Amino acid sequence: MALPSAHQTGYKNILDSLTTAVLVLEDNLTIRYLNPAAESLFETSMTRSQGQPFQDILVESEDALKTLFAAVRNGQSYTRREAEFLLTSGSRLTVDYSVTPISLEPTELLIEIQPRDRLMRISREEDIISQQETTRILVRGMAHEIKNPLGGIRGAAQLLDRELNSEDQREYTRVIIDEADRLRSLVDRMLGPNKALKLAPTNIHEILERVGTLLEAESKGRLHFSRDYDPSIPEFRGDKEQLIQAFLNIARNAMEAAFENQGGHSSEEPPTITFRTRTLRQFTIGNRRHRLVCRVDVIDNGPGIPPELLQNIFYPMISGRASGTGLGLSITQSIIGQHHGLVECESEPGRTDFIIFLPLEDTP
Ligand SMILES: Nc1ncnc2c1ncn2[C@@H]1O[C@H](COP(=O)(O)OP(=O)(O)OP(=O)(O)O)[C@@H](O)[C@H]1O
Ligand SMILES: [Mg+2]
Repeated sequence: MALPSAHQTGYKNILDSLTTAVLVLEDNLTIRYLNPAAESLFETSMTRSQGQPFQDILVESEDALKTLFAAVRNGQSYTRREAEFLLTSGSRLTVDYSVTPISLEPTELLIEIQPRDRLMRISREEDIISQQETTRILVRGMAHEIKNPLGGIRGAAQLLDRELNSEDQREYTRVIIDEADRLRSLVDRMLGPNKALKLAPTNIHEILERVGTLLEAESKGRLHFSRDYDPSIPEFRGDKEQLIQAFLNIARNAMEAAFENQGGHSSEEPPTITFRTRTLRQFTIGNRRHRLVCRVDVIDNGPGIPPELLQNIFYPMISGRASGTGLGLSITQSIIGQHHGLVECESEPGRTDFIIFLPLEDTP
């Protein structure tokens, strides 16, 4: 079903290409039409939500619903700024929206929604991408300066090792060699994967299932996995091995966090990780607009990330754990970045959500 005159493909194309989310409700507030931007915003599809009550995709406040019914009754239009929408998935959105009754008998409501979050997010994403770039240049320069003399130190220690006769003394040269090797592998990890991507048709669910299997083994079955997949997500060109590494870094953090909660106040809830996948249409990552994007959420019920740490977790060497090297997330961001995607994070106590956006077309 479509808008009264939207069967004319010209209008449909216009609606499909809008970045503004457009929604049409019947007089009983069931959904009649969503454009692709609205599908993305509400994380649903036209087929799934048509004929459903508006409240099924949005947990609206009583007040907002009353105002919508009043618009139906009085035929009056209105605009709200910086309204908070809570999606049934638990995500929160800040939006500006206008409601306009578009026909009288029966009344239908046209709702146009401008997500403020998305605007704010795009500028934040540009910040993240440029920060990453600066860090990469810095780390590369530093790694180069460390690796050169390190090669010399290791070589000299090896020569010295051959000259020494006493086993006791050679123990010292071994220490030098082993520590030089350890530092070298740390620097290599900091540099991230430097291999070119091996691109092949890739299925996102195959990657997530592999990560799940690895963690199920690591946690000896004590971790609860929940899956919420959109099976219609098409294959895309990606480097499977590197993407497994990228998702494993996030999921392993999630597992560590989920276990931390045990014995805490929410101990009645078992340590749980949720993998969720969806597609988004006409979605902008950084400053590039993509026709189709895959959104993956890796959600855990751990204690959350302290706000002061949250700003910096994607930088290398930033860790909140005593035994952490702080490299996992920076490696992940760099692998996803090579696929023209982006990783973001939202966190509150009891729910941390790492959101990975991957474009499904025009990847290299
Ligand atoms: N799901 C999560 N819940 C709570 N804190 C998290 C979560 N994911 C990451 N963090 C925090 O972000 C920090 C950085 O993570 P990152 O994976 O980059 O490094 P790490 O886990 O400390 O070390 P490693 O290099 O071994 O992965 C973590 O130390 C942790 O404090
Ligand atoms: Mg980690």
